[in-house]
Amino acid sequence: MAITRVAVIGCGLIGRRRAGVVSEDASSVLASVVDSNAALASEAGAEFGCEWNADWRPVVARGDVDAVVIATPNAFLAPIAIEALRAGKHVLLEKPMGRTLSEARAIAAAAAVAGRLVKVGFNHRYHPALGAAFALVSSGTIGRPINIRAVYGHGGRPGYELEWRGDPALAGGGEATDQGVHIFDLIAWFAGVPSEVFAYTQSAVWPIAPLEDNAFGLFRFDSSALASFHTSWTQWKNRFTFEVYGELGSVEVTGLGKSYGTETLVTGTRNREGGPPRMTRREFDGPDESWRLEWADFQSAIRDGKPYMGGPQDGLAAMAMLDAVYRSAATGLTTAVG
Ligand SMILES: NC(=O)c1ccc[n+]([C@@H]2O[C@H](COP(=O)([O-])OP(=O)(O)OC[C@H]3O[C@@H](n4cnc5c(N)ncnc54)[C@H](O)[C@@H]3O)[C@@H](O)[C@H]2O)c1
Repeated sequence: MAITRVAVIGCGLIGRRRAGVVSEDASSVLASVVDSNAALASEAGAEFGCEWNADWRPVVARGDVDAVVIATPNAFLAPIAIEALRAGKHVLLEKPMGRTLSEARAIAAAAAVAGRLVKVGFNHRYHPALGAAFALVSSGTIGRPINIRAVYGHGGRPGYELEWRGDPALAGGGEATDQGVHIFDLIAWFAGVPSEVFAYTQSAVWPIAPLEDNAFGLFRFDSSALASFHTSWTQWKNRFTFEVYGELGSVEVTGLGKSYGTETLVTGTRNREGGPPRMTRREFDGPDESWRLEWADFQSAIRDGKPYMGGPQDGLAAMAMLDAVYRSAATGLTTAVG
């Protein structure tokens, strides 16, 4: 079996999680961990028993690294991804795909020139309830999708404004850029890329203006389907809901495990005679396998050339939706996506 030699850049919450997944995968070797904070890098090196570095540049240039995982603040995702692609590496970069649509386009272009794979960290696609809901919708079980309602949020934490997510230069955007892109990706996965959006943003509680702590919007599709979203850093009790309504029924996913509550899929089958629909409920209370499954998807693409989710087109779609959300919020106008 071909072994993929991997460098993980950024040893914070997500980078360490991804380094753990890589090091537990029999078909990957964790070659190096990198963090600009040398103490964090060396701690991660000791934890995973691999080389560490405080500078990503020599690491992405290494001949013995095949793939680079990037989990830094958003500002560094594009420059590191582009440099790694130019050095011939495959890249899994965290969401969002850069801070802006133009950074996302530059990443996609660099991948096309280099002939290397890019995957954006849309791990929600690998959550079991969302996967089961997608299978039901794509097999026609609920009929033609009519509308989607999505809510995603948490309540921040004291000093949130002092973290990199509160810094426009490092984050690029507020909550729509942070958790919103997951929702935009899911909407596009289930229903295709919408044609236009009307959105409002708020900077309501956290002193992070011009960044937003809430974004609301309504996407419209060429099919006339609609998708509403609310993404929030003032959702004091963490919440995730994703509902799709079709002509024949509905699917509703709530929770993502842990603080978001048990991941649950409720399926409704419309009663054509009238009266309540037939409802079935499934709970997925196992550990969060999304990170492992996401890595396995990427590995099979690298090793065997298999199709994978979260490629450049998916990343660009979510970033085009995000870009349109911000343009709509700034102008007060319904705005074309893309
Ligand atoms: N997929 C998801 O659900 C999910 C969840 C949370 C965060 N994320 C994404 O993961 C990325 C990291 O988020 P996090 O929560 O782990 O942040 P974090 O602050 O916990 O970690 C970021 C790390 O990057 C390091 N860093 C900063 N600049 C660097 C540089 N130039 N080179 C190397 N290292 C550098 C920091 O020292 C820090 O240790 C972000 O892009 C975020 O959007 C994704």
